Amino acid sequence: MNKKIIVLIVAIVIIAIGGIGFWFMSSNSNKSDKKTNNTNENSKVNTNNETSNEKVAIIYFSATGTTRKVADFIENKTGGDSIEIEPKYEYTDDDLDYNNKNSRANKEQNNSKSRPEIQNNLETDSYDVIYLGYPIWWGDVPKIILTFLDTNDLSGKKVIPFCTSGSSGIEESLDTLKNYNKDINWTDGKRFSSGATQNDINEWIDSINN
Ligand SMILES: Cc1cc2nc3c(=O)[nH]c(=O)nc-3n(C[C@H](O)[C@H](O)[C@H](O)COP(=O)(O)O)c2cc1C
Repeated sequence: MNKKIIVLIVAIVIIAIGGIGFWFMSSNSNKSDKKTNNTNENSKVNTNNETSNEKVAIIYFSATGTTRKVADFIENKTGGDSIEIEPKYEYTDDDLDYNNKNSRANKEQNNSKSRPEIQNNLETDSYDVIYLGYPIWWGDVPKIILTFLDTNDLSGKKVIPFCTSGSSGIEESLDTLKNYNKDINWTDGKRFSSGATQNDINEWIDSINN
């Protein structure tokens, strides 16, 4: 065979092998890119799962249902377990009459040692995050919330207060809570009016989770 033709065939074979090799390498690198992306995706998913793996409880006291409604919205949004703090002695309308200085609620709020009893057993050990809800009574937390803190060790847990009120803000009650137990990882929390909607609650929870 002519020497030139042999050289040409060898050159073609080398180019062909080189081309196949290049394609093979680049396709593998694509695969590994995809794998990296997948890994990133997975780690993103895992991170999200880790967030949602945090066990969430919504624990609240509500004398007339307003805070319960907000608690229900939080339950819808987070999928957490909703647990109501039930007073051993339910509050009657007379008990809640804030115009009467001798009403039960007013007497409790005026007595720093008052700790109204809770009827139900509240299991809090298994939760990592607790939304803690209450109505504002005289600018502050109802004393039954302090009973709850006395009888449940929430040290190291993330507790997110929320409240409802006619018009007062949450600030004074936050100070009370933060000073009452400094081992709890308190977040700032939020006050809602009786007109709060599911959307309001969704926006709030999105804002604290981002
Ligand atoms: C004894 C008592 C004291 C209250 N004090 C306040 C107050 O200081 N500021 C306020 O804005 N609302 C006050 N309220 C109104 C409640 O905070 C409000 O109606 C709340 O949304 C009730 O929540 P609930 O239905 O979950 O019990 C008071 C209500 C009661 C019964």
